[in-house]
Amino acid sequence: MKIKIPATSANIGPGFDSVGVALSKYLTIEVLAPREEWLVEHNLEFVPSDKHNLLIKTALKVKSDLPPHHIKMTSDIPLARGLGSSSSVIVAGIELANQLGNLQLTADEKLRLATQIEGHPDNVAPAIYGNLVISSYVNKQVAAVVTDFPPASFIAFIPNYPLRTSESRGVLPNQLSYKKAVAASSVANVAIAALLTGDLIKAGKAIESDSFHEPFRQKLVREFYPIKQTAKEIGAYATYLSGAGPTVMVLAPKEKEAALIGAIQALDLDGQVHVLQVDTKGIQVQEN
Ligand code: HSE
Repeated sequence: MKIKIPATSANIGPGFDSVGVALSKYLTIEVLAPREEWLVEHNLEFVPSDKHNLLIKTALKVKSDLPPHHIKMTSDIPLARGLGSSSSVIVAGIELANQLGNLQLTADEKLRLATQIEGHPDNVAPAIYGNLVISSYVNKQVAAVVTDFPPASFIAFIPNYPLRTSESRGVLPNQLSYKKAVAASSVANVAIAALLTGDLIKAGKAIESDSFHEPFRQKLVREFYPIKQTAKEIGAYATYLSGAGPTVMVLAPKEKEAALIGAIQALDLDGQVHVLQVDTKGIQVQEN
């Protein structure tokens, strides 16, 4: 059996801890033979290969008596880059427990479990459902709305350095005044309404007007400002920090894609440019 989970890009400007979209990079786990102890075969440095691996820890949190197996894990989602690599592992762990324990979990139950583990739903929700997901997690209750993302190009600049979510959350303020919070959430409302009605020009303006997290985090990602300037000149809808960063995401009309790739590459920054598609499937399970 194979379980495949997409990468995700969270926040999308003012949708901090709430909004995310599934994108076309994938974590795949292959469930091989049963064995005495868990074995997770992978090619990552400093990542455990036994029951302390996040995949197995998550699966055992869902069902503590799962039979150990040999698991092969491969991923092209870069680690600590703001593309939901650890959320994809958490979602894969929940699906592994669901399959090996025959738990018949619904997608909503998977989302509740994943959100409890991750602490916020913005990455795990699109990893589970695919597409664009708007969700909330308040008083331990999760609510989510899954919808299509309007046609657009996602051009990701993935820096060659990692940025830990804890470090990136560490620069955020503890409080926001009532007036600023009301203003920031009105911008978020417009961003979502514009995405839902397919008005990417209006959505782009609102996405770039976030005041929940980007103003505080920009200093951590030196590539952000030059890419945003260049993207604006060429006619992108918006440039935002993907998740906690450091990936910088440019949302653009399809016909501007080639020009944007060339222009971002010409900036000669320390990282790679990838064009990603919206994943519409979320969790995929393939029986042998
Ligand atoms: N919403 C989260 C953040 C995503 O921006 O910190 C990364 O976990």
